[in-house]
Amino acid sequence: MSNIIILGAQWGDEGKGKIVDLVCDRFDIVARYQGGHNAGHTVLIGEKKFILKLIPSGILHPGKQAVIGNGLVVDPAALLTEIQSLESAGVHVSGRLFISNRAHVLFPFHRTMERMLDAIGTTSRGIGPCYEDKAGRRGLRMADLLDDRNFSAQLKTLAAEKGTVASAFGINEGLDLARMLADYQAFAERMRPMVCDTARLLNDAIRAGKKVMFEGAQGTLLDLDHGTYPFVTSSSASAGGASTGTGVPPTRIDAVVAVAKAYTTRVGGGPFPTEALDDMGDQIRQRGNEFGSVTGRPRRCGWFDLPLVRYSAMLNGFDSLVVTKLDVLDGLEKIPVCVAYRSGRHELTEMPATTAGWAAIEPVYECLPGWQTPTAGTSRYEELPQQARAYLTYLEDRIGVEVGCISTGPERNQTIIRPDSRFQQLFA
Ligand code: GDP
Ligand code: IMO
Ligand code: MG
Repeated sequence: MSNIIILGAQWGDEGKGKIVDLVCDRFDIVARYQGGHNAGHTVLIGEKKFILKLIPSGILHPGKQAVIGNGLVVDPAALLTEIQSLESAGVHVSGRLFISNRAHVLFPFHRTMERMLDAIGTTSRGIGPCYEDKAGRRGLRMADLLDDRNFSAQLKTLAAEKGTVASAFGINEGLDLARMLADYQAFAERMRPMVCDTARLLNDAIRAGKKVMFEGAQGTLLDLDHGTYPFVTSSSASAGGASTGTGVPPTRIDAVVAVAKAYTTRVGGGPFPTEALDDMGDQIRQRGNEFGSVTGRPRRCGWFDLPLVRYSAMLNGFDSLVVTKLDVLDGLEKIPVCVAYRSGRHELTEMPATTAGWAAIEPVYECLPGWQTPTAGTSRYEELPQQARAYLTYLEDRIGVEVGCISTGPERNQTIIRPDSRFQQLFA
């Protein structure tokens, strides 16, 4: 087993950054396959805290290579700022980061477009409008940005179109094309040494026996096709995206490991059947420090939703599940888990496909006993209180996938890897 996807099973912020960092040593290359600087992956190494947005978390491990795949949208200003802040924290990015020449370039007018149209509470980074240009076959890619001969004419055409749309919405920001062109030409020169055909790079590396990890951003329920549409992001966050978003064929990807919180959170609008709108929700938010790592928005908090994670398991084909933030549930008397949805007189075990369908359902809960001995920091499964083990076994049985790894705190060593699990075999 060489090439493995690590992705989010819920609505993002599951703790992917921590888990990618934990198992990174076993790989030669870590590749992101979708999204942009809407992602925020937190990694704690000793006293240092890193929040990675566009660059794969693997960059924090000396000697590993990091790839920004063709499936991403890249804001060059955001990327260069991120590189600079890593360099000043002593992480040498130079020579280890490769950007796909097919990745799409995000421009300031994408943010303007988003201000006009956002109805779902996005991160306001311009991600959706940039992907719209990609799907509309008018976007500009890294290779275009580096093409000195044609870039300025192409940018002019795209910017003119955005100007027309903006004026139709009554927005007259007076787009300064000359300035934008100069900025982007300067970005191009700084990025040029890092841009290449990363599909070629990855496939050659795999052929030479190197091991690749695919780092998902967002989460399966934010996937453009399979998530809670239209309250989703604009890329393919689920496992299928790893192949289209890097150019590595599905036949070369060996396993999928998913990360889920021991409860559920989501940022922004959209259905959330198990949302705890009472003070339990506030308690989880405070104890889990559930505030967005990109926008600082309070995350909506609620209970574990089995139908959602089961659906996610089906879509991605989980080989193993990591459950994070178990410690946040310490001390609760009982823990509700959603086992199905009620719609009128019917009980559903699948998620609805429409907004109206979501509005018509209510969660059906089973309550499990909580535990009073803290799990925070525990690194051995046997040391977990019996009720915590029972909680994990309950999830495992109902999802139909092992819980191979449990996270009990944000630090590397606050982790349990279950002996003889598939997780352990995959990352041995
Ligand atoms: P990502 O986007 O999936 O990488 O997750 P984020 O970094 O946005 O959010 C996860 C947050 O939870 C970060 O602040 C992590 O440091 C923190 N975290 C990760 N695992 C644990 C855990 O097991 N317990 C606690 N208390 N915090 C955790
Ligand atoms: P990571 O990788 C949580 C959410 C936004 C919004 C919706 C669409 O850290 O898990 P977008 O700006 O992508 O068009 O917004 O998706 N969202 C995330 N929520 N974690 C993320 O990334 C997210 N990236 C986007 O809040 O609801
Ligand atoms: Mg995050």
